[in-house]
Amino acid sequence: MAKSILVTGGAGYIGSHTVLQLLLGGYSIVVVDNLDNSSDIALKRVKELAGDFGKNLVFHQVDLRDKPALEKIFARTKFDAVIHFAGLKAVGESVQKPLLYFNNNLTGTITLLEVMASHGCKQLVFSSSATVYGCPKEVPCTEEFPLSAASPYGRTKLFIEGICCDIYRSDSEWKIILLRYFNPVGAHPSGHIGEDPRGIPNNLMPYVQQIAVGRRPHLTVYGTDYSTKDGTGVRDYIHVVDLADGHIAALCKLSDANIGCEVYNLGTGKGTSVLEMVAAFEKASRKKIPLVMAARRPGDAEIVYAATEKAERELNWKAKYGIDEMCRDQWNWAGKNPYGYGSSDSTN
Ligand code: NAD
Ligand code: WQD
Repeated sequence: MAKSILVTGGAGYIGSHTVLQLLLGGYSIVVVDNLDNSSDIALKRVKELAGDFGKNLVFHQVDLRDKPALEKIFARTKFDAVIHFAGLKAVGESVQKPLLYFNNNLTGTITLLEVMASHGCKQLVFSSSATVYGCPKEVPCTEEFPLSAASPYGRTKLFIEGICCDIYRSDSEWKIILLRYFNPVGAHPSGHIGEDPRGIPNNLMPYVQQIAVGRRPHLTVYGTDYSTKDGTGVRDYIHVVDLADGHIAALCKLSDANIGCEVYNLGTGKGTSVLEMVAAFEKASRKKIPLVMAARRPGDAEIVYAATEKAERELNWKAKYGIDEMCRDQWNWAGKNPYGYGSSDSTN
């Protein structure tokens, strides 16, 4: 029988790509998403891309904090595991509205964990983030590095990681994998699903993409005086399809007898500067990205990239794609969908 997986936040950027890979891998999927930061069009496209497997996808527009609604979903289907993407993720917004982030991310997660426990579903893959490494003193970041929170958003990830470890300590039937993503970019190679942020993008590549399609005039490069090859910040960009595949590897790992509560980085292990990323995107899109050099963005780290050995060794997973493929696929998505899932008069 196909394994049945509940995917929270499955209509979002990483969720939609993961749901597609799961469907193609033969899993049966139920998505719970309140569509606060996503569109149901993403899931319609996932269904189409999955072909015959599309029939194995069910969607409920539900907020995770709505416990009775979640209870009903668990009463109807016996899930083998949950992949938990749902959460708010804008670092700057979390500084302005910390309670919104604590309420949504923490209450949502606690409600989910309570309902899982009461239905005997004790296998979880959770979306953590490289943000828990704060400004690392050295690179690559190994899973054992000291952790810190530079924002309320980051604090929700730290708290949830801690909650998961505590739950496992209290009940060894739980199997939990915490995945620390580095910088997901790119889109499905079909160009039919991709990232579609609401409002002004916070992250580098969605911003660059909107310049290329004529929605924004220039990129502000935050910081040109870092101790890096060209003075701009260095990050570990990872193709979203590689990241999605990392979740399937994590699900397989949950079958291990003694997994407990374990953490893995999902990155490529390679550092790329802002200017290198822009150059790769210009090459892929043949569009000029006008730049305005500016001061550092407060709170930004200088260089962050992942140690990948643990995931390679224990999950048997390794990123396949490089920045040229990431930019190619990001541009393919942007060119086909300049306004994401919306239309030119419905987004800003
Ligand atoms: P996203 O905003 O595209 O997806 C998150 C989804 O969760 C959205 O569809 C949103 O509508 C839904 N959601 C939010 N709160 C909800 C709630 N209370 N109930 C139901 N649904 C809710 O974000 P993403 O980039 O796909 O990120 C997915 C996860 O990965 C998040 O937890 C994020 O913090 C984490 N993460 C993202 C990045 C990144 O750069 N994109 C990096 C590291 C970690
Ligand atoms: C990358 C580089 C910027 C925008 C964030 C979150 C982190 C994680 C991933 C969720 C940096 C520079 C950016 C721009 C720029 N998300 N930049 N101009 O900051 O590494 O991480 O997303 O967990 O928690 O903090 O990603 O894409 O914002 O920035 O020069 O307009 O691009 O300074 O060097 P970041 P990013």
